[in-house]
Amino acid sequence: MTRKKVVALGGDGVGPEVMEVTCHILEKAGFDLEIARPLSGAEAVKAGENAFPEAVKVLCEQSDAILFGAAEGPSLSILVYLRWLLDNYINLRPVKYYPGAFSPLKEPTGIDCLIVRENSEGLYPGREGDLAWLAAKLPDYRDPLGRSLDDYGAGKFALRLITEKGTARIARYAADLARQRKSRGFPGKVTCITKSNLLGQTCGLFRKIVEDEIGRDAGLQYEHFHVDDAARRLVRFPGTFDVMVTSNMFGDILADEAAELVGGLGIAPSACLGGRKAYFEPVHGSAPDIAGKGIVNPTAMILSAKMMLDHLNMPAEALTLEKAVSDVYRQGNSLTPDQGGKATTRQFAEAVLWNL
Ligand code: NAI
Ligand code: MG
Repeated sequence: MTRKKVVALGGDGVGPEVMEVTCHILEKAGFDLEIARPLSGAEAVKAGENAFPEAVKVLCEQSDAILFGAAEGPSLSILVYLRWLLDNYINLRPVKYYPGAFSPLKEPTGIDCLIVRENSEGLYPGREGDLAWLAAKLPDYRDPLGRSLDDYGAGKFALRLITEKGTARIARYAADLARQRKSRGFPGKVTCITKSNLLGQTCGLFRKIVEDEIGRDAGLQYEHFHVDDAARRLVRFPGTFDVMVTSNMFGDILADEAAELVGGLGIAPSACLGGRKAYFEPVHGSAPDIAGKGIVNPTAMILSAKMMLDHLNMPAEALTLEKAVSDVYRQGNSLTPDQGGKATTRQFAEAVLWNL
């Protein structure tokens, strides 16, 4: 097997902090990886450089996978490249409880499901403008209330795009994932989440395409919930979900909610897949309120690296890393403040290494 090439880009805010300890763990663990850590993002800007130099893009193109921290300002161009220009239309967000994590639920044990978020269309990237401009383009348009856009006066609009191609490919991925999980003892259920009651065309199309895709496989179970109901069910019946599939913004919001069930944003990892080159990033953002304090929880970044190892066909290494992280939660004496502990980011990472 040839040594896998990984590019690690910390980004902004807490991104470089969680990236540093994650790369340290990967290197110390002796996994067969070649990790490049080029200057980029906030660190590059501080050094008077461009946040995303062309040479870094070339490194990414030549890599086997990319690790990314978080974007706030300087690194937005990196995020746009990773997500949209590489066409990583799948955002896979596991929701898994590790005993010892700080969940607000009385009984979080056993929560183990995934959100498949369509990552390339819907309401993101924002396609917005002045309502007056749109009203001038669409003078004959009437909304369900019979009003023209002019009737609403000055304001803004946002376009939400749901395409047949974009939905079909995410539906296929959700079906494949549910099949894979079924072979490992999970229910093999896909929950489609939309707001088709009020957005009959866009959400209606998404729902129909997912329903048809899952319906083609008699071995899979299918259910649909409106997003508001799904948000409630996640809190009340988290153990009933297996694979959830939804459009971009709903997935964004539900993933933060779901993360909280199993201990919060400090724990929630993600993978962005399907494009020219996969990348792996925490669900959380740059956490400006705690950046630079050395107390950010690096679990989400470390578990994102675990997802990368799976993607690179290194399942044994992935499992070893995940077990070391879950051991730290079970032991409970090296947890960061978001988990009710007093450990620093580095101390948490040292505990992971000790277990490794
Ligand atoms: P955020 O996820 O950065 O932070 C929300 C809250 O969770 C904060 O109180 C933060 O301290 C806490 N938190 C987040 N990660 C944590 C961790 N690993 N350990 C301990 N506590 C943690 O979301 P927010 O505040 O809405 O956004 C801040 C910035 O991040 C914004 O500029 C936003 O655009 C950006 N963002 C970037 C993302 C990305 O790069 N993919 C994703 C989400 C937000
Ligand atoms: Mg988000």
